[in-house]
Amino acid sequence: MDAMEKLVSVAKRRGFIFPSSEIYGGLNGCWDYGPLGVELKRNVKEAWWQDMIGHHDDTIRTGDAPAPFSMVGLDSSILMNPRVWEASGHVGGFADPMVDCRETRNRYRADQLVVFGVVSADAGDSSVDSAELLFASPGEIGATPEAALVAPHRKRLAKIAKALGEHRIVPVPDALLDETLRAKTLAPGATEAGTLTAPRAFNLMFKTHVGALEDNSSVAYLRPETAQGIFVNFKNVCDTSRVKIPFGIGQVGKAFRNEINPRNFTFRSREFEQMEIEFFCRAEEAEAWYRYWRDRRYQWYVDLGLDTAKLRLREHDADELAHYAAACADVEYEFPFGVSELEGIANRTDFDLRQHTEHSGKDLRYFDDQEPDKDKRRYLPHVIEPSAGADRATLAFLCAAYSEDEVGGEARTVLKLHPRLAPIKAAVFPLVKKDGMPERALALYRELRAGLTTFYDEKGAIGRRYRRHDEAGTPFCVTIDGDTMREETVTVRERDTCEQVRVPMSGVLDHITERMKD
Ligand code: GAP
Repeated sequence: MDAMEKLVSVAKRRGFIFPSSEIYGGLNGCWDYGPLGVELKRNVKEAWWQDMIGHHDDTIRTGDAPAPFSMVGLDSSILMNPRVWEASGHVGGFADPMVDCRETRNRYRADQLVVFGVVSADAGDSSVDSAELLFASPGEIGATPEAALVAPHRKRLAKIAKALGEHRIVPVPDALLDETLRAKTLAPGATEAGTLTAPRAFNLMFKTHVGALEDNSSVAYLRPETAQGIFVNFKNVCDTSRVKIPFGIGQVGKAFRNEINPRNFTFRSREFEQMEIEFFCRAEEAEAWYRYWRDRRYQWYVDLGLDTAKLRLREHDADELAHYAAACADVEYEFPFGVSELEGIANRTDFDLRQHTEHSGKDLRYFDDQEPDKDKRRYLPHVIEPSAGADRATLAFLCAAYSEDEVGGEARTVLKLHPRLAPIKAAVFPLVKKDGMPERALALYRELRAGLTTFYDEKGAIGRRYRRHDEAGTPFCVTIDGDTMREETVTVRERDTCEQVRVPMSGVLDHITERMKD
């Protein structure tokens, strides 16, 4: 099993993540979080909310912030007036180029299907065009292992390779746009070449109808991002919450995208959750705030346990930027399936508020009573947008936490989750089911439960109980034993080091709370 297969297996086995509607064969791109998974994902969202909004102090300059600022929250609806999506550009432009295979009926994102030829080792790249047969496989030359590219065409490629002797695989860029090259291309799983269609734009928004009539007048969309709910409420928030620029509005919620090719477990799903901030500031200060949010968001992942060796902050080149964006950076993580985006931080200028002003006819300018120049007091603020995915962050934390080691000569799987994220913070065990130990353990369990997510477990040998909780990511296991009955002390075992310390029974909560801060 490769690293990702092991993670998917432990996620299923321990009740973190299940395929959606599994008893009916599942639904591609949709996932359900089980008892442990729901706690983990809630902790990810809660950590984001507390760190970004709930615990933010707007009376002082915090960290490297250019100035003090305010943060407030919002929970807008998933269904909105469809004109929101015309203004935002999603109706006209939120599309991926897709390619269909007429034989296998599979659909691919054109930019995620690589076309390659096989040439003899000493041939130049130009000889590819005259290759008899080209091959299409999901992936990217250089990033996808050659074995994975070759896998859908193994038999045919083996024959060609035999005839050619020493050979190499050469990409054929833009082959899908060229009718002649497409005709020579063998799709994954197809028996004949030429079954792929030319790329066509495919809008990613899920359409539905509101009300009894299913006609054009009742069309609505499931939101593809939470951000627009914030922009359309900008005036409401300014009018009701006394926030002054600079300030941010944060929102956590579901988003839906009809992804052509959902893949890599929960990484690219059709239903997922976003954690987005729209941060409003003066145009001349936008660059400084952009840098602040970019660095702060990167650090958030580090603080919660992602290794900096696997985390990157990638600034977009000018030709990668959306037409309205002044700057954009991605926080990327090295997942087992490759380096991929966790979060994007963009300087969106005043694009969104300007679009909504034009489309709604409402004046969304901010009145800045701190501005000394009277003529400059009304303006559209600029926006910095840190946009994160709760499911992607959860997956990254799970990947980073997964580890295998040996304890006392026995192999164990352990999820080294940051204590803030761990679904269960403490497990309480009686060493044996007699001598009053279960009663003492239950009393402690009930006491801890009031302040921490705690689990009581009396089933099986003590070693097996430790293993179960290592795999669930529980950072502390508390055992009631014979000494507890004599001395009122318990052992607290730490998950990662397996170190055990004796702690007075009355001090367990304080001990764990203190250790969780380490
Ligand atoms: N408002 C900007 C926006 O939505 P995005 O880059 O399209 O930007 C932001 O999405 C974040 O949402 C991504 O970095 C990712 O974490 C998450 N996300 C986007 N599409 C996703 C999908 N299909 N499955 C899971 N997460 C997704």
